[in-house]
Amino acid sequence: MADFLPMTATLAAKKMELPGVHTLSLALDTRSPFNFDFGQFNMLYLFGAGEVAISIMGWDQGLLQHTIRAVGRVTRPLVELEVGQQLGLRGPFGQGWPLAKLQGKDLVFITAGLGCAPVVAAIHHAVANRDQYGRIVILQGVKHHADLLWQAQYRRWQTLGKCQVLLAASEEHRHRHRWRLGLVTELLELAEFDPGHCAVLMCGPEIMMLAALKQLARQQVGDDAVYMSLERNFQCGQGLCGHCQLGPYFVCKDGPVFHYPTVKPWLGQEGL
Ligand SMILES: Cc1cc2nc3c(=O)[nH]c(=O)nc-3n(C[C@H](O)[C@H](O)[C@H](O)COP(=O)(O)OP(=O)(O)OC[C@H]3O[C@@H](n4cnc5c(N)ncnc54)[C@H](O)[C@@H]3O)c2cc1C
Ligand code: FES
Repeated sequence: MADFLPMTATLAAKKMELPGVHTLSLALDTRSPFNFDFGQFNMLYLFGAGEVAISIMGWDQGLLQHTIRAVGRVTRPLVELEVGQQLGLRGPFGQGWPLAKLQGKDLVFITAGLGCAPVVAAIHHAVANRDQYGRIVILQGVKHHADLLWQAQYRRWQTLGKCQVLLAASEEHRHRHRWRLGLVTELLELAEFDPGHCAVLMCGPEIMMLAALKQLARQQVGDDAVYMSLERNFQCGQGLCGHCQLGPYFVCKDGPVFHYPTVKPWLGQEGL
């Protein structure tokens, strides 16, 4: 039952990443350790407005970080909070990326838009533990090049050995250095990795992930190699209310990160 009661957190810092997208750094008002897996999420509760699921982006100098796009009733006022104000937090919830199981393999990260948020902590982990993984391939798609979050980070990853960063802008008309015009899934043809010994970690609009799956199959990557983070409308966040049901699974509890073969029969089905 304790998971229904939000703990309080204080906004310690706020950074605008892009117009409408802010990273909130939160100091938890608790002495208990806060352990989480990369890919898990918290339910952030803005008093008087409501609660939303937000991926845990990272943990930096004792502060928990979430990057939030202001889209509606809760997220808009959430990013308007001032430093020093409080909010509620429940979590961490769900299943994260199985990074320990993927050691020794090439890692291919495929993300689009804010889909990079649930994945970025896993990329940091892989980059910081280079010797445990093979090649690291990072594919990110946005509409316009200016929509790319954390540009400096992507530039830094581009300079690392055994690391390939490919960026695509789907609605850009003018060619730019380092950018391909088109969809993130088209970058897969340029990606250098071993299809027989890789793991693919992806997050973004489901239509993008379905297109990526088709391309991965063409490139001889088996279903078994693919993990994906899914997004649904979460209410309880812990497998009790049924709002996020996908076939026999609750995305909040059994996911949001799934091994693709587990959810394959239910993906892309209308109404699910
Ligand atoms: C596991 C998980 C992790 C998530 N991680 C993040 C994260 O790290 N950062 C983040 O900003 N969001 C994240 N989200 C999405 C976030 O939960 C929703 O954006 C949020 O619930 C919207 O609530 P709201 O009350 O502000 O908007 P609402 O008032 O409920 O919706 C307003 C409008 O925005 C649309 N909308 C809702 N969500 C989105 C969206 N994600 N993108 C575009 N339009 C949307 C709705 O369809 C509606 O038309 C995550 C969701 C899940 C399930
Ligand atoms: S949000 Fe309630 S069961 Fe998933």
